[in-house]
Amino acid sequence: MASRGKVLVSRRGHSWTRERLTERFDCVIAEPDDVLAMDEDARAAITGFATLMSPVTPALIDALPNLEIIASFGVGYDHVDAAHAAERGVMVAHTPDVLDDEVADTAIGLLLNTLRELPRAEAWLRAGKWQSDGAYRLTPLTLRGRTVGIFGLGRIGLAIARRLEGFGVAIHYHNRSQRADVAYPYHATLADLAEACDTLVSVAPGTAETRHAIDAAILEKLGTDGVLINVGRGSVVDETALAGALTAGAIAAAGLDVFEDEPNVPQALLGAPNTCLLPHVASASVATRQAMGQLVIDNLAAWFAGDAPLTPVPETAGLTR
Ligand code: GLV
Repeated sequence: MASRGKVLVSRRGHSWTRERLTERFDCVIAEPDDVLAMDEDARAAITGFATLMSPVTPALIDALPNLEIIASFGVGYDHVDAAHAAERGVMVAHTPDVLDDEVADTAIGLLLNTLRELPRAEAWLRAGKWQSDGAYRLTPLTLRGRTVGIFGLGRIGLAIARRLEGFGVAIHYHNRSQRADVAYPYHATLADLAEACDTLVSVAPGTAETRHAIDAAILEKLGTDGVLINVGRGSVVDETALAGALTAGAIAAAGLDVFEDEPNVPQALLGAPNTCLLPHVASASVATRQAMGQLVIDNLAAWFAGDAPLTPVPETAGLTR
């Protein structure tokens, strides 16, 4: 399937997807800064943009006068200014669904690792301490008896909740609005959710509304046995407040897969006690990342065949060609 013009593809990010895009479309491989430096004709030739997590700012969208579609790799699209794209009549697509189970599996693993200190227990074994010092300590924390609050009961949140049902824990949630298809107790505010639970799992997207929504006051409500797990976006958590809460013992532990300024992890979090920190790997298996990449390709192919993309973002879902 040929595009009517050229497809801009990020130089960084998932190489499998980039290679397949170049086989299928007439591509220009560049990062946003390179695009802004291109001459007018080169910019005018670009009709599609496959962003493998490179930022798509209003300036970049405005620099591409014939841009029709931005196909973004990943379910979260906080790196794309979708509102500006919608204003300009540019379609935005992302890659939901295909990663739900992988991310939910990882969230459960991160939760158990955080509570039961499994990475530290393994480090103890590998350091020979089992032989020299004896058994690893009994963990103060356990999943038994916990009440888990899910902040963001969308597709991934629901996949996490379904898994947690098997662990026999109580499950509550907070969303902007209550879901009609689940019986879990709903809390109209994040503060109410935090009050009702001791374990908060954040799957919320990174938006202006959710920025630093998990702050010192929310963390304090989880209590001294409280645990925060974040597999959504780092910007949702006030990391300074989190490091402070961990250090002061206001909450007991945190498991984080995402950070506000990736790949930079604040020293305060690296040094805080009782953290399990992962380098944004929740969807990072070969199979799941390829499924995400394939959806980027399929979204572009559908568009250039004259159809709607398979998975548009809500901001542009109503756009017609
Ligand atoms: C990963 O974080 C994604 O948004 O898919």
